Amino acid sequence: MKVWAHRGCSQMYPENTISAFEKAMEIEGLEGIELDIQLTKDGQLVVCHDERVDRTTNGIGEVRQFVLTEIRKLRIEAGNGKYEQVPVMEEVLELFRDGGKEQKGNLKLNIELKNSVYPYEGMEEKIIDLVYKYGLQNRVIYSSFSALSLEKIRKLDVKAGIGILDTKISDCLYKLKGGCGADALHPCWRGLDLPKERISGYAVRAWFTGHLYPEKPTGKRLDLAALERLGITDVFLNEPEKYV
Ligand code: G3P
Ligand code: CA
Repeated sequence: MKVWAHRGCSQMYPENTISAFEKAMEIEGLEGIELDIQLTKDGQLVVCHDERVDRTTNGIGEVRQFVLTEIRKLRIEAGNGKYEQVPVMEEVLELFRDGGKEQKGNLKLNIELKNSVYPYEGMEEKIIDLVYKYGLQNRVIYSSFSALSLEKIRKLDVKAGIGILDTKISDCLYKLKGGCGADALHPCWRGLDLPKERISGYAVRAWFTGHLYPEKPTGKRLDLAALERLGITDVFLNEPEKYV
């Protein structure tokens, strides 16, 4: 089973922050890091899960209502009197470019375009340009709940690694008919509603919902072998450090 850090090491650190990514980059044997991107009012790609900044920062409002300089002034509480900023995607790519010191440049990056609520105009072009600027095109997998966005990515970059997001794996396969040419399906782990034979040949990367910083871990461990028997090849975990 391949393990990914979901929003970085998001149980130990605030999700989608430089600290969460740096910690993930130290984990030997980690397959990759997953993160979420949104677009600011002035067209800058930033790393943030929600369309709004309210849950993760001290600000109020939608990412698309802030220009970059404004969003960078917001604080993400990181405990012990420390704060982080909403990362700019470019700084994350720069950090990631050389891989973690334990990873020798093999670590992958799953960039989830959060564009199914607001179909941010130009987001696909901007992220592909940035990924190429940092020479990371062979280490990046794009994903989105928007099949249209993934189809656009395929048109812009015929070689792009693409994973289709949906809750059920049958819906991931349905979206594939649109022609995005994904080689990976990204369902919720509870959404394995097809027999294993129907999904063989695809990477099946499953995501979970649940505890994130600063909630307490439950201590309950996932049975990765049982998930593998369902056809899951990879898992996105908030606590990858406990499994790798
Ligand atoms: O990409 C898998 C997973 O991240 C999708 O759910 O809500 O954590 O972005 P969410
Ligand atoms: Ca995500």
